[in-house]
Amino acid sequence: MPSVVVVGAQWGDEGKGKATDQLGERVDLCVRYSGGNNAGHTLVVGGEKFVMHLLPSGILNPRTTTVIGNGVVVDLDVLAAELKQLEERGVQVPHPLISANAHIITEYHKVLDKVTERFLGNRRIGTTGRGVGPTYSDKVNRLGIRIQDIFDEPILRQKIEGALEQKNQLLAKVYNRRAIEADEIVASLLAHADAIRPYVIDTGRYLNDALDAGKVVLFEGAQAHHLDVDHGTYPYVTSSNPIAAGACTGAGVGPTRIDRIIGIAKAYTTRVGEGPFPGELFDEEGEALREAGGEYGATTGRPRRCGWFDAPLVEQSAKINGFTDVFLTKLDVLTGWEKIPVCVAYDVDGVRHDKMPLTQSEFHHAKPIYEYLDGWTEDISRARSFTDLPDAAQRYVRRIEELIGCRISGIGVGPSREETILLNDLL
Ligand code: IMP
Repeated sequence: MPSVVVVGAQWGDEGKGKATDQLGERVDLCVRYSGGNNAGHTLVVGGEKFVMHLLPSGILNPRTTTVIGNGVVVDLDVLAAELKQLEERGVQVPHPLISANAHIITEYHKVLDKVTERFLGNRRIGTTGRGVGPTYSDKVNRLGIRIQDIFDEPILRQKIEGALEQKNQLLAKVYNRRAIEADEIVASLLAHADAIRPYVIDTGRYLNDALDAGKVVLFEGAQAHHLDVDHGTYPYVTSSNPIAAGACTGAGVGPTRIDRIIGIAKAYTTRVGEGPFPGELFDEEGEALREAGGEYGATTGRPRRCGWFDAPLVEQSAKINGFTDVFLTKLDVLTGWEKIPVCVAYDVDGVRHDKMPLTQSEFHHAKPIYEYLDGWTEDISRARSFTDLPDAAQRYVRRIEELIGCRISGIGVGPSREETILLNDLL
């Protein structure tokens, strides 16, 4: 029985929700291993649209148990609100299991996320402002608050007072903000203790036992390769490891337990927040892609920056993650162009780079070198097999496959679960 990791191959928002949902029917466990509610998964099921930020995307499949791994940072208010929202829309879902070791995003992390961004001015990262970065910083600084802490009030208080001793100095003296009361934070966290207690477990042991028992486990990365703190376009990245290897640390399973790694790549490129993006289109072509693809952030509503498919970018993530397959999403968005440019290399100060350049400075200077592929005008949303696609669309997919060095096993031709072409079984 396989275990599969699903990872974004670009800068996020590739449509991972749709791809994971595709596998959903056959998945016993769906595990989030990194990030927090900075993510945004849009799922369309039975014509209804659901946007989730923290809950694993498998939450809508009644036979799937969902798990929030130790590598996730959890805003307990958001967790409760997302579950309540589903309930209000008449969707009954089992509560996710939660790692006792996952770190908690508190109010002071959210405040610090916003004030530090403001303080950075034009060097800002363009974060989602959800407190994710400061929470991971505290984790590494050994100042974090974990889920298990809310079951031991004296310890919780001690840890929060310890953290605030430092944060309040920073807030008042550097950022000119009011100090935060430990009591407020303690009370807000304790308010969730009873509701989540039955679901807090040693998720690492649980997942390994499930794998031993032959269960199908899907590890769902949030964000994407190029937002990874080690491998992405640092410092314009998130503060965790969304790459496939992050599933091992963020869920507590060994590398030998992973069978498949599916990279999700959009048929073009988008990015939200700051940071280099060599192929960014500032003209009406970019605007047309944004409108056709509905490229507005699911978490913040920000318009996404758009560009054509960047092959060296995805080739890099295919290599570092060890993708066994790629799922190409939103191919239908490209319908109607006479020619479709694909970035095949970069020009960096007059030198051609077929692969991503080594340094940040070079990448900031990179200009895309395009190859122009024939477009198609036929509506492809009803295509269910590869040969249903117009010849030009087939050639587009095959050329991308060649450029990124990994087989394409799934193609998204529309937003709903059914609007998919599968070339190879994903499990
Ligand atoms: P943070 O994760 O909120 O700290 O933001 C760091 C960077 O990652 C910013 O550029 C965000 O826009 C980007 N980011 C975080 N989560 C996502 C996501 O789910 N999709 C796309 N970009 C994201």
